[in-house]
Amino acid sequence: MAGSQTVEELFMNNEELPENYIHKDSKGFMDASPSSMEIPVIDLGLLISSSPTVEELEKFRAALSSWGCFQAINHGMTDSFLDEVQEVSKQFFALPMEEKKKYSRTENAIEGYGSDMVLSEDQILDWTDRLYLLVNPQDQRKLEFWPKNPENFREILAEYTIKLKQMNEALLRAMARSLNLKDDCFVNQCGGEQTVMFTRFNLYPPCPRPDCVLGLKPHADGSAMTILLPDREVEGLQFWKDVQWVRVPIIPHAFLINVGDQMEIMSNGLIKSPVHRVITNSERERMSLAMFCAPGSDKEIGPVEGLITEARPRLYKTVKNYVDSYFQYFQKGLRPIDAVKI
Ligand code: OGA
Ligand code: NI
Repeated sequence: MAGSQTVEELFMNNEELPENYIHKDSKGFMDASPSSMEIPVIDLGLLISSSPTVEELEKFRAALSSWGCFQAINHGMTDSFLDEVQEVSKQFFALPMEEKKKYSRTENAIEGYGSDMVLSEDQILDWTDRLYLLVNPQDQRKLEFWPKNPENFREILAEYTIKLKQMNEALLRAMARSLNLKDDCFVNQCGGEQTVMFTRFNLYPPCPRPDCVLGLKPHADGSAMTILLPDREVEGLQFWKDVQWVRVPIIPHAFLINVGDQMEIMSNGLIKSPVHRVITNSERERMSLAMFCAPGSDKEIGPVEGLITEARPRLYKTVKNYVDSYFQYFQKGLRPIDAVKI
Protein backbone atom coordinates (compact mmCIF):
# COMPACT_ATOMS: atom_id res chain seq x y z
CA MET A 1 0.00 0.00 0.00
CA ALA A 2 1.40 3.36 -0.94
CA GLY A 3 1.59 5.51 2.13
CA SER A 4 3.22 2.81 4.24
CA GLN A 5 6.36 3.40 2.21
CA THR A 6 8.29 6.55 2.85
CA VAL A 7 8.73 9.04 0.03
CA GLU A 8 12.46 8.62 0.37
CA GLU A 9 12.11 4.91 -0.42
CA LEU A 10 9.99 5.67 -3.47
CA PHE A 11 12.61 8.03 -4.70
CA MET A 12 15.63 5.84 -3.89
CA ASN A 13 14.18 2.75 -5.52
CA ASN A 14 13.31 4.75 -8.57
CA GLU A 15 9.85 3.31 -8.51
CA GLU A 16 7.15 4.44 -10.82
CA LEU A 17 5.32 7.38 -9.32
CA PRO A 18 2.16 6.03 -7.62
CA GLU A 19 -1.07 7.51 -8.92
CA ASN A 20 -2.13 8.81 -5.55
CA TYR A 21 0.58 11.45 -5.48
CA ILE A 22 -0.61 13.07 -8.70
CA HIS A 23 -2.80 16.16 -8.75
CA LYS A 24 -4.72 15.50 -11.94
CA ASP A 25 -6.17 18.98 -12.10
CA SER A 26 -2.73 20.58 -11.88
CA LYS A 27 -2.05 23.29 -14.39
CA GLY A 28 1.64 22.96 -13.67
CA PHE A 29 2.77 23.91 -10.18
CA MET A 30 6.08 25.08 -11.51
CA ASP A 31 4.51 27.84 -13.53
CA ALA A 32 3.29 29.93 -10.58
CA SER A 33 3.85 33.33 -12.06
CA PRO A 34 6.60 35.31 -10.36
CA SER A 35 4.94 37.80 -8.10
CA SER A 36 6.05 41.27 -7.25
CA MET A 37 4.35 40.99 -3.87
CA GLU A 38 6.56 40.34 -0.91
CA ILE A 39 5.97 38.59 2.38
CA PRO A 40 6.41 41.22 5.13
CA VAL A 41 9.65 41.22 7.14
CA ILE A 42 9.39 42.04 10.85
CA ASP A 43 12.27 42.98 13.12
CA LEU A 44 11.50 41.14 16.36
CA GLY A 45 14.17 43.05 18.24
CA LEU A 46 12.16 46.21 17.70
CA LEU A 47 8.76 44.63 18.11
CA ILE A 48 9.34 42.69 21.30
CA SER A 49 11.36 45.34 23.11
CA SER A 50 9.76 46.83 26.21
CA SER A 51 8.77 49.91 24.27
CA PRO A 52 8.07 49.03 20.64
CA THR A 53 7.45 52.02 18.43
CA VAL A 54 3.95 52.75 17.19
CA GLU A 55 5.33 52.34 13.71
CA GLU A 56 6.58 48.82 14.38
CA LEU A 57 3.32 47.75 15.99
CA GLU A 58 1.37 49.17 13.07
CA LYS A 59 3.56 47.33 10.58
CA PHE A 60 3.00 44.14 12.55
CA ARG A 61 -0.76 44.63 12.65
CA ALA A 62 -0.85 45.23 8.91
CA ALA A 63 1.26 42.11 8.24
CA LEU A 64 -1.07 40.01 10.36
CA SER A 65 -4.32 41.27 8.97
CA SER A 66 -3.35 41.31 5.32
CA TRP A 67 -1.03 38.27 5.16
CA GLY A 68 -1.19 36.28 8.41
CA CYS A 69 2.48 35.54 7.93
CA PHE A 70 5.85 37.27 8.01
CA GLN A 71 9.56 36.62 8.04
CA ALA A 72 11.07 37.29 11.45
CA ILE A 73 14.57 38.70 11.61
CA ASN A 74 16.67 39.90 14.53
CA HIS A 75 14.89 37.38 16.76
CA GLY A 76 17.70 36.94 19.24
CA MET A 77 18.60 33.34 18.48
CA THR A 78 22.17 32.90 17.37
CA ASP A 79 23.08 31.72 13.88
CA SER A 80 25.25 29.01 15.34
CA PHE A 81 22.41 27.57 17.39
CA LEU A 82 20.08 27.51 14.39
CA ASP A 83 22.81 25.86 12.34
CA GLU A 84 23.05 23.19 14.99
CA VAL A 85 19.30 22.62 14.93
CA GLN A 86 19.39 22.19 11.17
CA GLU A 87 22.41 19.95 11.42
CA VAL A 88 20.77 17.43 13.78
CA SER A 89 17.71 17.37 11.58
CA LYS A 90 19.86 16.65 8.55
CA GLN A 91 21.79 13.97 10.41
CA PHE A 92 18.59 12.26 11.45
CA PHE A 93 17.23 12.09 7.89
CA ALA A 94 20.64 10.89 6.66
CA LEU A 95 20.50 7.79 8.90
CA PRO A 96 19.92 4.42 7.23
CA MET A 97 16.20 3.76 6.70
CA GLU A 98 16.34 0.85 9.11
CA GLU A 99 17.56 3.12 11.88
CA LYS A 100 14.90 5.77 11.18
CA LYS A 101 12.18 3.16 11.18
CA LYS A 102 12.91 2.45 14.82
CA TYR A 103 10.92 5.64 15.38
CA SER A 104 8.10 4.86 12.95
CA ARG A 105 4.66 6.08 13.86
CA THR A 106 2.00 3.45 14.32
CA GLU A 107 -0.66 3.30 11.67
CA ASN A 108 -3.21 5.73 12.99
CA ALA A 109 -1.12 7.95 15.24
CA ILE A 110 0.61 11.11 14.17
CA GLU A 111 3.63 10.97 16.43
CA GLY A 112 6.81 9.41 15.04
CA TYR A 113 8.57 9.00 11.71
CA GLY A 114 6.81 8.31 8.43
CA SER A 115 4.98 9.60 5.41
CA ASP A 116 1.44 10.90 5.02
CA MET A 117 -1.31 9.34 7.07
CA VAL A 118 -3.86 7.86 4.68
CA LEU A 119 -7.36 8.67 5.88
CA SER A 120 -9.40 8.22 2.74
CA GLU A 121 -9.09 6.40 -0.56
CA ASP A 122 -9.20 9.47 -2.73
CA GLN A 123 -6.62 11.38 -0.70
CA ILE A 124 -3.81 12.86 -2.75
CA LEU A 125 -0.56 12.21 -0.90
CA ASP A 126 2.10 14.77 -0.11
CA TRP A 127 5.69 14.28 -1.26
CA THR A 128 7.22 14.47 2.19
CA ASP A 129 8.51 12.36 5.07
CA ARG A 130 8.47 13.72 8.56
CA LEU A 131 9.34 13.14 12.14
CA TYR A 132 6.51 14.44 14.27
CA LEU A 133 7.03 14.93 18.01
CA LEU A 134 5.10 16.44 20.88
CA VAL A 135 7.62 18.60 22.74
CA ASN A 136 5.40 20.41 25.26
CA PRO A 137 3.95 19.88 27.90
CA GLN A 138 7.16 18.20 28.86
CA ASP A 139 5.57 15.42 30.86
CA GLN A 140 3.66 14.27 27.79
CA ARG A 141 6.72 13.64 25.65
CA LYS A 142 6.96 10.16 24.21
CA LEU A 143 10.68 9.66 24.29
CA GLU A 144 10.47 6.38 22.41
CA PHE A 145 10.00 8.51 19.28
CA TRP A 146 12.89 10.89 20.04
CA PRO A 147 15.98 9.83 18.08
CA LYS A 148 18.99 8.75 20.09
CA ASN A 149 21.09 9.41 17.05
CA PRO A 150 22.60 11.93 16.40
CA GLU A 151 23.70 11.92 19.98
CA ASN A 152 22.80 15.54 20.73
CA PHE A 153 19.40 15.41 19.02
CA ARG A 154 17.32 15.32 22.21
CA GLU A 155 19.29 17.98 23.97
CA ILE A 156 19.15 20.39 21.04
CA LEU A 157 15.44 19.83 20.55
CA ALA A 158 14.76 20.43 24.24
CA GLU A 159 16.66 23.70 24.12
CA TYR A 160 15.00 24.74 20.89
CA THR A 161 11.60 24.10 22.46
CA ILE A 162 12.34 26.40 25.39
CA LYS A 163 13.43 29.19 23.08
CA LEU A 164 10.44 28.88 20.79
CA LYS A 165 8.04 28.72 23.70
CA GLN A 166 9.34 32.09 24.80
CA MET A 167 9.13 33.46 21.29
CA ASN A 168 5.55 32.24 20.96
CA GLU A 169 4.53 34.06 24.13
CA ALA A 170 6.36 37.24 23.21
CA LEU A 171 4.60 37.22 19.85
CA LEU A 172 1.21 36.62 21.43
CA ARG A 173 1.74 39.66 23.63
CA ALA A 174 2.86 41.77 20.70
CA MET A 175 -0.18 40.66 18.71
CA ALA A 176 -2.48 41.73 21.54
CA ARG A 177 -0.76 45.08 21.80
CA SER A 178 -0.88 45.70 18.09
CA LEU A 179 -4.67 45.23 18.24
CA ASN A 180 -4.96 47.57 21.24
CA LEU A 181 -5.97 44.73 23.52
CA LYS A 182 -4.75 43.82 26.96
CA ASP A 183 -1.25 42.38 26.69
CA ASP A 184 -2.09 38.97 28.05
CA CYS A 185 -5.40 38.26 26.35
CA PHE A 186 -3.94 35.76 23.87
CA VAL A 187 -1.27 34.39 26.20
CA ASN A 188 -4.05 33.57 28.68
CA GLN A 189 -5.67 31.38 26.08
CA CYS A 190 -2.63 29.73 24.57
CA GLY A 191 0.50 30.34 26.59
CA GLY A 192 1.86 28.84 29.79
CA GLU A 193 3.11 25.42 30.79
CA GLN A 194 0.20 23.56 29.23
CA THR A 195 0.79 25.04 25.76
CA VAL A 196 0.68 22.20 23.27
CA MET A 197 3.72 22.30 21.04
CA PHE A 198 4.29 19.84 18.23
CA THR A 199 7.37 19.89 16.13
CA ARG A 200 7.61 18.44 12.66
CA PHE A 201 10.88 17.77 10.90
CA ASN A 202 10.00 17.75 7.20
CA LEU A 203 12.05 16.17 4.45
CA TYR A 204 11.04 16.77 0.84
CA PRO A 205 13.10 14.42 -1.36
CA PRO A 206 13.73 15.42 -4.98
CA CYS A 207 10.61 14.69 -6.98
CA PRO A 208 10.47 13.40 -10.58
CA ARG A 209 7.27 15.34 -11.38
CA PRO A 210 7.26 18.76 -9.72
CA ASP A 211 4.67 19.83 -12.29
CA CYS A 212 1.93 17.67 -10.78
CA VAL A 213 3.08 16.58 -7.31
CA LEU A 214 3.11 18.80 -4.22
CA GLY A 215 5.35 18.64 -1.16
CA LEU A 216 2.36 19.80 0.87
CA LYS A 217 -1.04 20.47 -0.60
CA PRO A 218 -2.72 23.79 0.09
CA HIS A 219 -3.73 24.06 3.75
CA ALA A 220 -3.94 26.43 6.67
CA ASP A 221 -2.42 25.30 9.96
CA GLY A 222 -4.54 24.10 12.89
CA SER A 223 -2.23 25.75 15.40
CA ALA A 224 -2.56 29.18 16.98
CA MET A 225 0.93 30.02 15.73
CA THR A 226 3.47 28.18 13.57
CA ILE A 227 7.15 29.02 13.73
CA LEU A 228 8.99 27.56 10.77
CA LEU A 229 12.71 27.25 10.20
CA PRO A 230 12.92 26.86 6.42
CA ASP A 231 15.68 25.22 4.44
CA ARG A 232 18.83 27.32 4.18
CA GLU A 233 19.22 26.88 0.43
CA VAL A 234 16.15 25.48 -1.25
CA GLU A 235 12.89 27.43 -1.56
CA GLY A 236 9.50 25.80 -1.91
CA LEU A 237 6.98 27.35 0.45
CA GLN A 238 4.30 29.60 -1.06
CA PHE A 239 1.40 31.58 0.43
CA TRP A 240 -1.90 32.31 -1.25
CA LYS A 241 -2.45 36.05 -1.32
CA ASP A 242 -5.48 37.62 -3.00
CA VAL A 243 -5.43 35.75 -6.30
CA GLN A 244 -2.02 34.18 -6.55
CA TRP A 245 0.75 32.12 -4.97
CA VAL A 246 3.59 34.14 -3.51
CA ARG A 247 6.89 32.43 -2.81
CA VAL A 248 8.83 32.79 0.41
CA PRO A 249 12.36 33.88 -0.47
CA ILE A 250 15.28 32.67 1.62
CA ILE A 251 16.52 35.08 4.25
CA PRO A 252 19.40 33.39 6.06
CA HIS A 253 18.54 32.48 9.68
CA ALA A 254 15.11 34.10 9.55
CA PHE A 255 11.99 32.33 10.78
CA LEU A 256 8.85 32.20 8.73
CA ILE A 257 5.97 32.71 11.13
CA ASN A 258 2.33 32.25 10.29
CA VAL A 259 -0.77 32.26 12.41
CA GLY A 260 -3.02 29.22 12.39
CA ASP A 261 -6.77 28.74 12.54
CA GLN A 262 -6.93 29.11 16.32
CA MET A 263 -5.53 32.63 16.13
CA GLU A 264 -8.07 33.47 13.45
CA ILE A 265 -10.74 32.27 15.89
CA MET A 266 -9.33 34.18 18.89
CA SER A 267 -8.99 37.37 16.87
CA ASN A 268 -12.58 37.00 15.64
CA GLY A 269 -11.28 36.91 12.08
CA LEU A 270 -9.23 40.12 12.22
CA ILE A 271 -6.16 37.98 11.64
CA LYS A 272 -6.52 35.44 8.87
CA SER A 273 -4.96 31.99 8.98
CA PRO A 274 -3.24 31.93 5.59
CA VAL A 275 -3.39 29.10 3.05
CA HIS A 276 -0.01 27.84 1.96
CA ARG A 277 1.59 24.95 0.09
CA VAL A 278 5.00 23.49 -0.69
CA ILE A 279 6.12 22.76 -4.22
CA THR A 280 8.70 20.11 -5.05
CA ASN A 281 11.99 20.26 -6.83
CA SER A 282 13.42 17.71 -9.23
CA GLU A 283 17.03 18.38 -8.37
CA ARG A 284 17.40 19.02 -4.70
CA GLU A 285 15.95 17.83 -1.46
CA ARG A 286 14.54 20.36 0.97
CA MET A 287 14.23 20.29 4.72
CA SER A 288 12.21 22.40 7.12
CA LEU A 289 11.33 22.36 10.77
CA ALA A 290 7.90 23.49 11.87
CA MET A 291 6.83 24.19 15.45
CA PHE A 292 3.08 24.30 15.97
CA CYS A 293 1.94 26.11 19.11
CA ALA A 294 -1.60 25.65 20.36
CA PRO A 295 -3.65 26.08 23.55
CA GLY A 296 -3.50 23.42 26.25
CA SER A 297 -5.82 20.51 25.55
CA ASP A 298 -8.24 21.39 28.35
CA LYS A 299 -8.61 25.03 27.25
CA GLU A 300 -11.70 26.30 25.56
CA ILE A 301 -10.87 29.16 23.27
CA GLY A 302 -12.96 31.63 21.37
CA PRO A 303 -12.96 35.20 20.08
CA VAL A 304 -11.58 37.57 22.75
CA GLU A 305 -13.93 40.12 24.32
CA GLY A 306 -12.39 43.26 22.92
CA LEU A 307 -12.82 42.10 19.34
CA ILE A 308 -16.53 41.39 19.46
CA THR A 309 -18.56 44.52 18.79
CA GLU A 310 -21.94 45.41 17.46
CA ALA A 311 -20.41 46.25 14.13
CA ARG A 312 -18.39 43.06 14.20
CA PRO A 313 -20.36 40.30 15.90
CA ARG A 314 -18.83 37.05 17.01
CA LEU A 315 -17.91 35.00 13.94
CA TYR A 316 -16.66 31.76 15.50
CA LYS A 317 -17.85 29.26 18.04
CA THR A 318 -15.85 28.32 21.10
CA VAL A 319 -13.55 25.38 20.42
CA LYS A 320 -11.62 22.83 22.42
CA ASN A 321 -9.00 20.42 21.13
CA TYR A 322 -9.34 21.92 17.68
CA VAL A 323 -6.39 19.97 16.30
CA ASP A 324 -8.11 16.61 16.85
CA SER A 325 -10.79 17.30 14.26
CA TYR A 326 -8.40 19.23 12.06
CA PHE A 327 -6.70 16.24 10.42
CA GLN A 328 -9.91 14.62 9.26
CA TYR A 329 -10.85 17.75 7.34
CA PHE A 330 -7.36 18.48 6.13
CA GLN A 331 -6.83 15.15 4.41
CA LYS A 332 -10.10 15.56 2.55
CA GLY A 333 -8.92 18.90 1.25
CA LEU A 334 -11.54 20.80 3.32
CA ARG A 335 -10.94 23.80 5.56
CA PRO A 336 -11.53 22.80 9.17
CA ILE A 337 -12.18 26.38 10.18
CA ASP A 338 -15.35 26.46 8.11
CA ALA A 339 -16.83 23.99 10.58
CA VAL A 340 -16.56 26.44 13.50
CA LYS A 341 -17.92 29.54 11.79
CA ILE A 342 -21.20 30.86 13.13
C1 OGA B 1 3.58 22.74 7.58
C2 OGA B 1 4.12 23.65 6.55
C3 OGA B 1 6.03 24.42 5.31
C4 OGA B 1 7.39 24.00 4.91
O1 OGA B 1 4.36 21.86 8.03
O2 OGA B 1 2.40 22.90 7.96
O3 OGA B 1 3.37 24.43 6.02
O4 OGA B 1 8.06 24.80 4.29
N1 OGA B 1 5.43 23.55 6.24
O5 OGA B 1 7.78 22.87 5.18
NI1 NI C 1 1.55 24.59 7.18
